[in-house]
Amino acid sequence: MSRGLLLFKDIDTPGLTGIETYRKLGGYESLAGTLGHKTPDECIEIVKSSGLRGRGGAGFPTGLKWSFVPKNSPKAKYIVCNADESEPGTFKDRELMVLNPHLLVEGMILAGYAIGANAGYIYFRGEFAYVQAIMDKAIAEARAAGLLGDNVFGSGFQFELYTHLGAGAYICGEETALLSSLEGFRGQPRLKPPFPAVEGLYACPTVVNNVETIMNVPHILKNGGQWYKQWGTEKSCGTKVLSVSGPVKRPGNYEIPLGLPLRTLIESPEYCGGMRDGFKVKGVIPGGSSVPVIPASQLDTGLDYESMNAVGTFLGSGGVIVIDDQTCMVDALWNLIRFYRHESCGKCTPCREGTYWMGEILERLEKGEGREGDVDLLLDVANNIFGKSFCALGDAAAMPVQGMLKHFREEFEYHVKHKRCMVNRRRQAVMEVTA
Ligand SMILES: Cc1cc2nc3c(=O)[nH]c(=O)nc-3n(C[C@H](O)[C@H](O)[C@H](O)COP(=O)(O)O)c2cc1C
Ligand code: SF4
Repeated sequence: MSRGLLLFKDIDTPGLTGIETYRKLGGYESLAGTLGHKTPDECIEIVKSSGLRGRGGAGFPTGLKWSFVPKNSPKAKYIVCNADESEPGTFKDRELMVLNPHLLVEGMILAGYAIGANAGYIYFRGEFAYVQAIMDKAIAEARAAGLLGDNVFGSGFQFELYTHLGAGAYICGEETALLSSLEGFRGQPRLKPPFPAVEGLYACPTVVNNVETIMNVPHILKNGGQWYKQWGTEKSCGTKVLSVSGPVKRPGNYEIPLGLPLRTLIESPEYCGGMRDGFKVKGVIPGGSSVPVIPASQLDTGLDYESMNAVGTFLGSGGVIVIDDQTCMVDALWNLIRFYRHESCGKCTPCREGTYWMGEILERLEKGEGREGDVDLLLDVANNIFGKSFCALGDAAAMPVQGMLKHFREEFEYHVKHKRCMVNRRRQAVMEVTA
């Protein structure tokens, strides 16, 4: 059975990491059909017409982003692939690269051609040395086959592709911090504007795109923008790979048509097959740990950008974290905030101080030492981080708090009043029995 519609369709084919198998399945045909046949501007128009939006979290239209690169700049241009994938709950990019590395190589060459770049970089998080090794092998195979270098496919187009391993910091997934890190500086965000499309790597025009975004490009340029729209909704076009974690029967990566109801993803035998025995859904964080949680009553919401926004959350990076009825939300939130406190780069005060204080308050609550007014104070700190920080990591730390207090405030109040959890904490026991 195929695990997906497009990017995951052939992904379990034995030998797909090798160039021969990839080519047998039609790999590099998109490159052959594009170089010398379509102009860079035509490529940008096709990607625009597909409705493809960035799969790294923000959902920005990809073709539009490419069109911001100045055409007559005398500077070099760069295409950078964001393979940092550090958002808790998200584990799709690593599987895509490990199982189908040539699709990323082909996508990078095509994206480079479209924006006028002669060099591309793939930036991995520090823990992804094993993924880098797989990508390096694929790049070497592509170079040996004449698909990289001075004369790609004999078309006269020149393109080189390099990989770079970061040092394992979440903030280096933020595109400007990523570029600083790639240049050899400390990985801290830069002020925007100027945006990378105008002044990015080495102060040159640069496009930063997520792994999944880039992997869609060969399919779109080969088959056309309208063809891609066979999946999805009017404004959320195409497919999306979602990483599902939590006590569902079959956690893992699933490629869905955008708009599929969250309930279908969790309950259908085609996807997760329901909850494990003894568990019920209490809430779902649908787009990686940075987005607000939604309660089980909103399970019929469609998994697309607009429907998620309508219920006060985001599709984000597609990390679907299913939270069960035996999980204490105070404990869960404290766990998340410890992550953001650790990963705050410290450059700006609201995030540096705010994540620290949110951690302190949550620790008090969880340990039964919560004070009267602590829940309001927690929300106040989150509201003072949100929209007031230098980069989006601040918002990412504030939104889980705002979401939890919007939907599950009574659990936090209970901790203050009764000095213990509201939920029946037999979770560990059930996990052991059903394992
Ligand atoms: C704190 C933080 C971490 C991020 N981490 C990632 C990441 O790991 N991978 C990713 O593709 N985008 C990440 N992003 C989003 C990037 O800044 C950028 O928007 C994205 O790579 C653009 O690619 P896209 O248009 O293809 O989505 C992060 C953003 C922030 C604020
Ligand atoms: S919001 Fe946080 S991560 Fe971003 S610059 Fe400020 S301190 Fe650094």
